[in-house]
Formats: sequence, structure tokens, C-alpha cells
Amino acid sequence: MQETERLAFLGTRAAVFAHEVGNPIAGILLSLKCVESQFKKQEVNDPSLISMIRGAIGEIDRLGSLLKEFRSLAPEQTLDLECTDLVKIAEEALALEMIAYRAAGITVKFAFEDALPLVRLDTAKIKQVILNLCKNAVEAMPNGGCLTLKGYRTRGMVVLEISDDGVGVPDDVNIFELFKTTKRGGTGLGLPLVQQIVSAHNGTIDYRSEPGRGATFKVSLAHV
Ligand SMILES: Nc1ncnc2c1ncn2[C@@H]1O[C@H](COP(=O)(O)OP(=O)(O)OP(=O)(O)O)[C@@H](O)[C@H]1O
Ligand SMILES: [Mg+2]
Repeated sequence: MQETERLAFLGTRAAVFAHEVGNPIAGILLSLKCVESQFKKQEVNDPSLISMIRGAIGEIDRLGSLLKEFRSLAPEQTLDLECTDLVKIAEEALALEMIAYRAAGITVKFAFEDALPLVRLDTAKIKQVILNLCKNAVEAMPNGGCLTLKGYRTRGMVVLEISDDGVGVPDDVNIFELFKTTKRGGTGLGLPLVQQIVSAHNGTIDYRSEPGRGATFKVSLAHV
């Protein structure tokens, strides 16, 4: 099951990537075609320039087709909804991570209100959300600390808060932007993916943070 989840996760990342790379490629193709037609209009007949532009158009076209093919392999972003208990999902999502967290000096606290209402959600995708947010939290506490998962209900919503007491989110960075990362070896795809899954559930995500004091990410989902 873990392998399936890992593959689905990679597939979604690949789909986001293919989508974002597709936009500039379409733009570049359009510009090149524009230059080519200007060449014709202005009767530019330098053979090396013309063949350069034709070559570039051919290559960009090829990249576009490759991308299209790649996108058709990526899994559809459809939700497999079921009425579920968020506490159970959070516990299951972190069961395997706990050992590594403890070894890294991280204490994990669960603080869920009693008798939280059920939420209609895609279990595997919400686990991805929880895992990504917890992974970020743990990475923000290189010297250990406390990871807290809090759950409560408010105005028709169930709220899940994931907090750490780590370094805090840098002030001047839009962390939900694709490929935005401050980590060596980070991809900057974690939060865009999280945001995509949460909005597919018609939910919201935001965060508050203080430099040096940690961060809290808050996911709100409508309950049943
Ligand atoms: N809990 C947090 N505390 C401090 N900064 C955070 C936290 N969560 C996210 N960030 C900031 O947001 C950036 C983007 O996060 P995101 O999960 O999208 O990518 P990443 O973690 O850098 O890379 P990847 O998820 O691929 O490992 C991070 O690089 C970090 O600067
Ligand atoms: Mg991340």
C-alpha cells in the first residue's frame, strides 16, 4: 500500500511538473512562429538564420509532444471520497514515521477534540497532505522539538492544525509557489501539491509563523 501511495504521489508531482513546464513551452513555440513569419514578411533570407529558427521550432514541437504523452500517463486527479474520521487518518499516516521522528528528537503530540464529526475525503490524498506538512515541520526542527497535530470543529468545518517549534517560515517567500524551496535538495513541490489536494476537497489552507518560534499550518475541511 505504501508503494502504491508513493507512486500516486510521484505521479501527481509529475503531473504538476508537466503542466507547469507546458505553459512556457507553448509560449516559446508561439514566439518562434512569430519570428519565422516576420522573417518571411521582411524577406529575410539568410539560410543559417532560417534553418536555426526552423530547427528550434521543430525541437520545441517535439518537447511539446513528449510532454503531452507524459501527461497522459499521469494519474487523473479524481477523488475517491468516503466518510472518515480524521484522527484515524492522522494516526495511520504517521504510524510509520513515528520511529524516525523519535530518533530525530521529535516529540509528537496528538490533541484532537472528542467526538469530531466525520469528513468526506480521499483518505490516501489527505494522508499525503498530512505527511507533507509533518515532513516540513520535522525539517524545520533540525535539533529536535515538538510536532503537534490538533483537531477541532468550528462553524461547519473540521480544522487540522500541524505545528512545530522550529525555525519559522521565511517572511519574504511565497511558500505555495511551485518550485519555491529554501532547502538544499528540496523540490518546492510539497506545498503546491498539498494546496492542490486541499482545494480539490473544497477546503482551505493557511499558516501563521514567527521567525525562530515555529509555524502552524491550518487545514479546514467541511464536515458531514
Ligand atoms: N513548517 C515549516 N517551517 C518553516 N518553513 C517551512 C515550513 N513548511 C514549509 N516551509 C518553507 O516552505 C518552503 C516550501 O515547502 P515545500 O514543502 O513546498 O518544499 P520543500 O519542503 O522545500 O521541498 P520538498 O517538499 O520537495 O522536500 C520550504 O522550503 C520552507 O522554506
Ligand atoms: Mg516539503
